[in-house]
Amino acid sequence: MNKLIVGNWKMNGGLADNAALLGALLRGWPDRAAADVAVCAPMPYLAQLQQLLQGTPLAWGAQDASAHPHGAYTGETSAAMLRDFACRYALVGHSERRRYHGESDDTVATKAQRVLAAGITPIVCVGETLAEREAGRTELVVKRQLASVIHTVGHCTSEIVVAYEPVWAIGTGQTATPAQAQAVHAVLRAQLQAATAHADRIRILYGGSMNPANAAELLCQPDIDGGLIGGASLKSDEFLSIIASCPVHG
Ligand code: 13P
Repeated sequence: MNKLIVGNWKMNGGLADNAALLGALLRGWPDRAAADVAVCAPMPYLAQLQQLLQGTPLAWGAQDASAHPHGAYTGETSAAMLRDFACRYALVGHSERRRYHGESDDTVATKAQRVLAAGITPIVCVGETLAEREAGRTELVVKRQLASVIHTVGHCTSEIVVAYEPVWAIGTGQTATPAQAQAVHAVLRAQLQAATAHADRIRILYGGSMNPANAAELLCQPDIDGGLIGGASLKSDEFLSIIASCPVHG
């Protein structure tokens, strides 16, 4: 199974900057990429991504989707709308959504279900805060967050991607060590194995200050199947270097 490298642009970019970044990525694309790669852009740019990336090896996705199918939900974007722009992925439950927009485990699970129903792969984000880690609650927290999604999507669990993003490592430059990340990934893998016979085909990504200097070591851990990259995905040379650090038979 190829590694999966996903760039999360967060609330960054603009028409001109996006075109320049995507152009640089496609010009620098490795001859033998050992990874599947996607970028998740702000909603208004999904049409631009569809236009510029169709027929290229670079897939695209959204950073969120509504928990509602349609109707009077001002400012929301439904999963069906994301499908209109051929999104392959949608992040759900990013810690910035949980933290700044009060998204509960239940809301995240419903979003994952809506995204799956639209034929899009949800990238379900889980992760503990620093206080939770220091209190020895890491395992409990990530298992609770994932359990909610497994419970809601049922037999579709094998169709999701999971991203472990320790909140204390996001945008801080402080990365989980490969051993710390692998330990949590193994816990998540075991939980997925208990839920589905197809857990081996579910990719579990690591996210949190992944960069060209630490990517190779993280990506060679047995249960780390890729990366979810914030800051470094905005710089073409750094993102390409992370893609190139995927082991060829990962
Ligand atoms: P950074 O790579 O900037 O730490 O962001 C990680 C992240 O939140 C990706 O979703």
